[in-house]
Amino acid sequence: MNLDLEFVRSQFPAFREPSLAGFAHFENAGGSYAAGQTIGWLDRYYRQTKVQPYYVFPASARAGEQMDAAKSRLAAWLNAGTDELQFGPSTSQNTYVLAQALRRHLQPGDEIIVTNQDHEANVGAYARLAGDGFVVREWKVNPVTAELERKDLEALLGPRTKLVAFTHCSNLVGSINAVREFADLAHAAGAWAFVDGVAFAPHGLPDVRALGVDAYYFSLYKVYGPHQGALFLRREVNAELPNQGHFFNEGLPEKRFTPAGPDHAQVAAVNGVADYFDAVADHHGQGGKPPQERAPAVRSLFRTHETALLQPLLDFLDQHPKVRLIGRTRAANRAPTVSFTAQGRSSAAIATELATAGFGVGVGNFYAYRLVQALGIDPDDGAVRVSFVHYTSKDEVDLLLRELDRCLN
Ligand SMILES: Cc1ncc(COP(=O)(O)O)c(C=O)c1O
Repeated sequence: MNLDLEFVRSQFPAFREPSLAGFAHFENAGGSYAAGQTIGWLDRYYRQTKVQPYYVFPASARAGEQMDAAKSRLAAWLNAGTDELQFGPSTSQNTYVLAQALRRHLQPGDEIIVTNQDHEANVGAYARLAGDGFVVREWKVNPVTAELERKDLEALLGPRTKLVAFTHCSNLVGSINAVREFADLAHAAGAWAFVDGVAFAPHGLPDVRALGVDAYYFSLYKVYGPHQGALFLRREVNAELPNQGHFFNEGLPEKRFTPAGPDHAQVAAVNGVADYFDAVADHHGQGGKPPQERAPAVRSLFRTHETALLQPLLDFLDQHPKVRLIGRTRAANRAPTVSFTAQGRSSAAIATELATAGFGVGVGNFYAYRLVQALGIDPDDGAVRVSFVHYTSKDEVDLLLRELDRCLN
């Protein structure tokens, strides 16, 4: 069954928004449009239950119920336990809190591996632990392919390795990494695998159990939802790491890595993400199945649609004489997040020209600063990034290709 694009687009008010008419959104890796369901939950929360949650009076009890439902519903989509999921303000803040916990958990001389393919959110917080007597090693990309290679990880792992932090999908290169294989290698060395899923999750919610990871984090504002970071922490890892919340909440797994009070409305609005994924699943014949079975079906619907649109874009950029396409030239195992530079043109100038023509693309280093440097690209100008998701149409991609052709010649 193919993705019903008309149905999908009808779920997003942005496509009916007069002020956005004529605009084509190709900066989805930065932030996706919000599903109507998300906007509905936020609106209802602010109108009906904008009180302190979890007391016994009706509005408060309803507020708490909504927040709990958001957590258990998203956890089910990820194949995680409800006690294994928590929300924080953003992925960067979630990794910051995890790093603080590790600071008190690790022993001097213990080793951490980070990559230079990652967004800085999954590097800096852990790399800074080098100042506390821990050894930080960098798993470097192949500078020609921009890929992380298994043999390089194997060479870095040792008996003191306690953590390997890497990305499911690069927000610049778009490569989908072999998470299970890398996590298994980390485990064989006695280390945890903490994985950044921010650039992957918009293309289909993953099964964190099947990935075999210890922590998995992503940002719901890129997954058609509110501005919240989702943090999966395996039950046993949660218990082993020291509490980062108030001392009297020590025994509550969902509070141990959320030092601040949560944003109640935004947590409740995560129900909108679950509603949206449910709506897609129901509409495509998956009604009645549990979320763990709906998730791969929806992922596959998204992927098939995205892949068909992605290959012509990759072909165009790969064959263009003035363009340096970053990353894989085949759509397999690649997200539709495509970065490039062009000879004789600054990336900023290209992005500005595309914006004038009605196309929103990203430009810069995308906080993958170390990666941009490793690839020999000026981090101040960076690359142009064209990123789309399943709600993007073939017409939009065709128009973009025509505009790119004009702009790059
Ligand atoms: C791959 C990746 N990881 C982490 C982040 C940081 O997410 P947040 O903005 O929620 O801190 C981003 C943000 O763009 C990202 O693209």
